[in-house]
Amino acid sequence: VDRPIGLFDSGVGGLSVWREIRARLPAEDLIYVADEAYVPYGTKSVAEIQQRSTMITRYLLTQNIKALVVACNTATAAAIHQLREQFSLPIIGVEPAVKPAAQETETGVVGVLATPNTLASEKFSDLVSRFNTDVRVMVQPCVGWVDLVEQGEWQGQYARDCVAAHVEPLLSAGADVLVLGCTHFPFLLPLIRRVAGPHVRILESGAAIARQLENRLQAERLECDTGHGHTRFVSSGDTHVAAAKMARVLGCTVVVDALCDVGVA
Ligand code: DGL
Repeated sequence: VDRPIGLFDSGVGGLSVWREIRARLPAEDLIYVADEAYVPYGTKSVAEIQQRSTMITRYLLTQNIKALVVACNTATAAAIHQLREQFSLPIIGVEPAVKPAAQETETGVVGVLATPNTLASEKFSDLVSRFNTDVRVMVQPCVGWVDLVEQGEWQGQYARDCVAAHVEPLLSAGADVLVLGCTHFPFLLPLIRRVAGPHVRILESGAAIARQLENRLQAERLECDTGHGHTRFVSSGDTHVAAAKMARVLGCTVVVDALCDVGVA
């Protein structure tokens, strides 16, 4: 029997990565953990995000995973280094697509939309320092966007105003490429597109993560390419609420199991 691949995020955002992995690696079994009891991560302390990341990874190891995808920019920035020190399985993280953005911009101005924690991290400043000699990288902490996605509130005027308030300053500064540096944000894409207009490029990281995961599995001879993979969804919060949230972003019904806390030693 083949072993599953584990993914986690603070909530439903990582499903934007999950859908790319599902499409690219259809034979793999996946376990998706939404840490709904602790969402959002974007404003939590780094220590707390590290603790949650460790706990969830331990849980996923009890489920016998062969690889881990940290489907959250905030948790990657705060905890991936430490996870790699603690655990020996292949661990793939997600980071804002600043490099492709720097290659694609024509105005020389790139806007990065992410959580306050991601933008404040050392990992992010290291990333930016590799590109900001050629291009101007403008950052925009998007407080409240994660909640819009978690609450499924992307239709109304409130959501539109909230998105416009963060995107418009970047456009006024000349940004022609926007980087979605949080895995929740692809679910706001129609709204962001409406505010940004048809000519601005909008980049997300899901497809690149799926490719990276595939390469890594092949390199380690861990890939499974026969049969039809299944996904198990797990949440640390109320499983019915989580199922409703996931169904809203995915557009199909899902069954959600409860996360058994394995504790942090
Ligand atoms: N989806 C996450 C990210 O990519 C975390 C959002 C949050 O919980 O604040 O950053």
